[in-house]
Amino acid sequence: MARTTPRGLLGSVRSLVRSHWHHLAPLLALGALAAAVWAWVGEGSPALAALLVLQAALLVGVAVTGARSLTILRQGRRADQRLASVLTLSRKAARRAAPRPAPTPAAPPAPDLGPLLASLGMQRLDGAIRHEEVMEAYREVVRRQDVLAEGLQREKERREADIRRALEAWGPGVLRAPELQAAEERLTLLVNRKFEEAITENDALINLHRLVEVHHELPPAGGFAASPRTLLRLFSAASEVPADRLVVECGSGTSTVWLAEARRQAGGGHVVALEHDEGYAERTREAVRRSGLSAWVDVRWAPLEPVEIDGSSYRWYARSTWEDLAGIGLLFVDGPPGSVGPRSRHPAFPLLAARLADGATVALDDVQRPAERAIGQSWLADTTSPVVLTDHEVVGRTWFLRAERRPG
Ligand SMILES: C[S@@+](CC[C@H](N)C(=O)[O-])C[C@H]1O[C@@H](n2cnc3c(N)ncnc32)[C@H](O)[C@@H]1O
Repeated sequence: MARTTPRGLLGSVRSLVRSHWHHLAPLLALGALAAAVWAWVGEGSPALAALLVLQAALLVGVAVTGARSLTILRQGRRADQRLASVLTLSRKAARRAAPRPAPTPAAPPAPDLGPLLASLGMQRLDGAIRHEEVMEAYREVVRRQDVLAEGLQREKERREADIRRALEAWGPGVLRAPELQAAEERLTLLVNRKFEEAITENDALINLHRLVEVHHELPPAGGFAASPRTLLRLFSAASEVPADRLVVECGSGTSTVWLAEARRQAGGGHVVALEHDEGYAERTREAVRRSGLSAWVDVRWAPLEPVEIDGSSYRWYARSTWEDLAGIGLLFVDGPPGSVGPRSRHPAFPLLAARLADGATVALDDVQRPAERAIGQSWLADTTSPVVLTDHEVVGRTWFLRAERRPG
C-alpha cells in the first residue's frame, strides 16, 4: 500500500485545484446543507445534521480557498510574462548601451537578471565617471582660460609699459642727439639775441622820441632804413658836429630826417644827402618838408657814374654832385645799394677822404654783412689817403670810425 506524503498530498491538492474541482464545492455544500435539514427534520438527528452542516462549511472553505489559489496562480503567470518582457527590453537596452557591439553570438536564451543589473550598474557607474571626467576637463579648460587671460593681460601691460618708456625716452633721446642739441642751442642763442636786439632797438626808439618832439608822420626806422640804435648814435654824432662842418650822407631816407633834426637842435650846420634814385630823392625831400626841416637839408639827386679806384671799376654818385663838399664832420655811408654792383659803397672813403675834417666820424652801415665788413677793413688798411681811419665802435649794425688827418 502506497504511503501518503505531505508533498504528494500538496500535489494532489494542486491537481484538484487545476482540475477546477472547487467549482463543485458550492454545489456539494448546498447538498450537505439540504441533507442536514433532512437529518434534523426527517430523521430527528441533530447530531447528523450538525455533522452535515460542518461538512457544508468545510466545502465552502474548500471552494473559497480553491478560487483564491487559482487567482494567485494566474497572477503568478502574469508576473512571469511581465518579467519575460522586462528581460527582453533589458537585453535590447543593453545592446544599445554597449559600445559598438561586435557581432556577438546570439544571446543566451534565458539571461540571468543579475548580470544584466550588474551590467546596468556598471554602465551607470561608468557614465558617472565619464561625467566627472568631462566636468574635470571642463574645469581644466576654464582654469586654462583664466591662466591664458591673466597671461594676455600681463603681456598687454608689459607692452604698454614698453611703449610708454620708449615714448618717454624718445623726446629727450632726440634732443640728446649732439647735432640736434647743438642746433637747438644755436637757435636758442639766435632767438635770445634777436629778442635782446628788439629790446635794445625799442629802447633806442623811445630815446630818440624823447630827444625830438614829433607832431607829424616820420618815415619808418629799420629794414632798408637805418635802425633806431644807428639813428640814435648818428643823432648824437650829428649834434656834436661843429656848425661850420657838414654832415654828408650817401643814400637818403629816414636817416636824413633825423640828421637834419640833430642839426636843427644844434642850431647850425647842414646835411647833404646824395641819392641815386630820383624818385626816392623826392620822397626823402617830402619827408624832410613834412618835418619842417627843409632849411637844414640838401637832398641831391646824384645819378651813378663809372669810377676807377685802384684798378677796380665801380658805379658811384656823379662827381658833379659832391665835388663842392668840404669840411665833412660826419659821413654816413648807406648807399648806393648792393644791387648796383659789388662793393658799391667802397668809393665813399677813397673819393671823399680829402674832404673829411680832422676828427670826423665815418659811419658804415650794414657791417653784419661780410661784404660791408670787408669794405670797412679795406678803408682801415688804406695808407694812401690824406686821412687815417681808426676803429671806434660798432653800434648795432653800424661801424663807427674816427678820421685823423695824416701829419704833414
Ligand atoms: C640803405 S638805403 C638808405 C637808407 C637811408 N639811409 C635810411 O636810413 O633811410 C640805400 C638806398 O636804397 C634805396 N632804398 C631806400 N629804401 C628803399 C626801399 N624800401 N626799397 C628799395 N630801395 C630803397 C634808396 O635809393 C637808398 O638810397
